Amino acid sequence: MTGTSNPPRILVTRKMMPDVERRIAAAFRATLNPDDRPLSAAEILEKCGRHDGLLLTSFDKLGPDFIPALPPSIRIIATHSVGYDHLSIPQAKARGIAVTNTPGVLTDATADVALLLILGAARGASWGDRMVREDRWGETTLISPLGHDVSGRRLGILGMGRIGQAVARRARAFGMTLHYHSRRPVAAAEASQATYHQHFEDMLPNCDFLSINCASTPETRGIVNAATLALLPDGAIVVNTARGDIVDDGALIAALSSGKLAAAGLDVFRGEPRIDPRYRGLDNVFMLPHIGSATPGTRSAMGHKCIDNLEQFFRGETPTDLLTGD
Ligand code: DGY
Repeated sequence: MTGTSNPPRILVTRKMMPDVERRIAAAFRATLNPDDRPLSAAEILEKCGRHDGLLLTSFDKLGPDFIPALPPSIRIIATHSVGYDHLSIPQAKARGIAVTNTPGVLTDATADVALLLILGAARGASWGDRMVREDRWGETTLISPLGHDVSGRRLGILGMGRIGQAVARRARAFGMTLHYHSRRPVAAAEASQATYHQHFEDMLPNCDFLSINCASTPETRGIVNAATLALLPDGAIVVNTARGDIVDDGALIAALSSGKLAAAGLDVFRGEPRIDPRYRGLDNVFMLPHIGSATPGTRSAMGHKCIDNLEQFFRGETPTDLLTGD
């Protein structure tokens, strides 16, 4: 760190924004990944032997054995993501390893993509784009193809944290009526006049659109499945900017194929980037490659937040975004 003769050694698993890499190289003895080759868990473990901390991402494929296998030198993991389902917090605590994440700075960018998915899925952005590229404009008539209205429809938000609330604010501007399910109701000022449902199942019959904005946890994994999808009105639309494993792919694909659901908008997938290939054959799915936080300003802010947390930790302070506290 600046002013320290022996700055801590940090392994950075992926290429970061240039301003982030400049700062981390100035503040720490940093091992960067200039070629941006994705590293396997085994490679990260092999490389991190002589390091004090790790700056990694939710795109790194780590697996459940990762934290127990970390060398004793590693004292902190700063993840370049708000989601931390790729890391076991109890395992990190048991090893005395601090873990930090990047809440707040990607809220707006991710909520923007949720609206993009709502609009894109409803209005056929995927098939419309393909028609123009494939020179099939001539097939359009006054009655086909048609999308679905967004204004005036009902949106249910699963997970009313920062991102869910930002989705609600945006959806209000589109004239949508709002419902939400979270573990607890949020303060009225943060709810954008959305109706709270204590039980997810009770919210679903009120959702022309369902936006998934909750964290992936043991409680939420697979919560959007055949039984819960059946509770949506016929012709509903599901969008997901959270994590793929909240959805049962087989059930979602069946509902999209049968016409139970009109469409889906997906930025995240179970097992991504190796997605269930059946999605590619469905014209009513609008898909993006996990770009919720992918703007220069947001990715830069996420990187700087990681460095803030690392610096605080190595100064002996409690990092702002510590996940492994009491
Ligand atoms: C996050 O920060 O969790 C985004 O989904 C990117 O991984």
